[in-house]
Amino acid sequence: MRSVRRAPAGVVVAALLAGGCARPPVVPVSPAPATLREAAGPLLIGVAVNAPTAAGGDTLSAALVRRHFNAVTPENVFKWEWVHPRPGVFDFAAADQLVAFAERNGQVVIGHVLVWHQQTPRWVFQDASGAPVSRDTLLDRMREHIQTVVGHFRGRVLGWDVVNEAVDDEGNLRRTPWLSIIGEDFIARAFVYAHQADPNAELYYNDYSVENAPKRQGILALVRRLMASGVPITGVGIQGHDHLDWPTVAQEDSTIAAFAALGLKVPITELDLDVLPRPDERTGAELGDTARARAALDPYRAGLPDSMQQAVARRWGELFGVFLRYPWIVSRVTIWGVTDRTSWKNDFPVRGRTNYPLLFDRSGRPKPAFDAVLRALQRPGAAP
Ligand code: G3I
Repeated sequence: MRSVRRAPAGVVVAALLAGGCARPPVVPVSPAPATLREAAGPLLIGVAVNAPTAAGGDTLSAALVRRHFNAVTPENVFKWEWVHPRPGVFDFAAADQLVAFAERNGQVVIGHVLVWHQQTPRWVFQDASGAPVSRDTLLDRMREHIQTVVGHFRGRVLGWDVVNEAVDDEGNLRRTPWLSIIGEDFIARAFVYAHQADPNAELYYNDYSVENAPKRQGILALVRRLMASGVPITGVGIQGHDHLDWPTVAQEDSTIAAFAALGLKVPITELDLDVLPRPDERTGAELGDTARARAALDPYRAGLPDSMQQAVARRWGELFGVFLRYPWIVSRVTIWGVTDRTSWKNDFPVRGRTNYPLLFDRSGRPKPAFDAVLRALQRPGAAP
């Protein structure tokens, strides 16, 4: 709907003097932006896109992606098991399709992810007999993977999640085959290989629960070591798999500020909002009473009550209020999926629940949370 504004007094007086009608004329003004991408200004507002959406199998999600977002992260199809399933075999069919989809929509693409301990085939770490490969072999495999994948998309991917989730909850380097076989420098080398393959791409370290103090300290220490040795890192991605009560505004704000102080960008890379009870919070359910325990863990199967919708919307507004305090530093906010129907949060940490983590409902309708985000984007700097 077109919004209108009453004409300023001077215009009214001029109209009356000119013998015009007594009612003030209505001066049309441009309507407030109705889409996230229009409202976002210089902020990249991104979304994770799955394979069916890019392939034309989910036209509802595709239309929402096209309309509302200016950046796309492939939810799965850039991962090692998709693009490099067997030794020497690269398969970019699904990834190319997703990049073409984004380019048709005038959207930038974020490369997710180069080095991770999940969705990486077992063969990567093993020799023909199943024994762990040597450090040199694994470094060779990592370099070949990064240079082939980044090289394939050179100039078409704005930035890469180079290393994902390499720090554990205590702030130590996570025990993965990457660490045990290569040692800590697998991280530095991954960034160097990516930079060699596309010197213009932004390069991020990406992780979840960054807002918790021990993990944050561990990542800060890691990033300082990388920067001190000249590793080309552009930013630290905060995934943002959030809850109604976590992280606090203060935790979010101080985490962004801590990385910004190092001169890094701090994109929010995988934002969603889990509204369901955590599995360790089975209050009221008898142990052993599986049906009751299940019901307690999955309380909104029939729909989210309006009071909860509003609480969820306020929370989205509050989080965006923090992000928007850091223009250019929080250079992008990417939401981890399109509709509640296809979110990974319906299956994690408990399979088969009915969760409400995104901005569009199961039918693709914008939720109150969407309105809250749109309002926050329209009024950057305003208190949440
Ligand atoms: O494609 C197969 C399908 O053929 C099969 O029928 C189905 C049966 O379960 O599985 C499908 O694969 C699933 C895939 O998502 C595509 O939907 C995998 O089982 C499932 O494990 C995989 O989950 C992905 C998860 O990463 C894997 O770790 C989620 O979609 C994806 O949202 C999630 O994203 C991660 C980020 O990459 C990193 N940060 C955490 C985030 C959430 O876990």
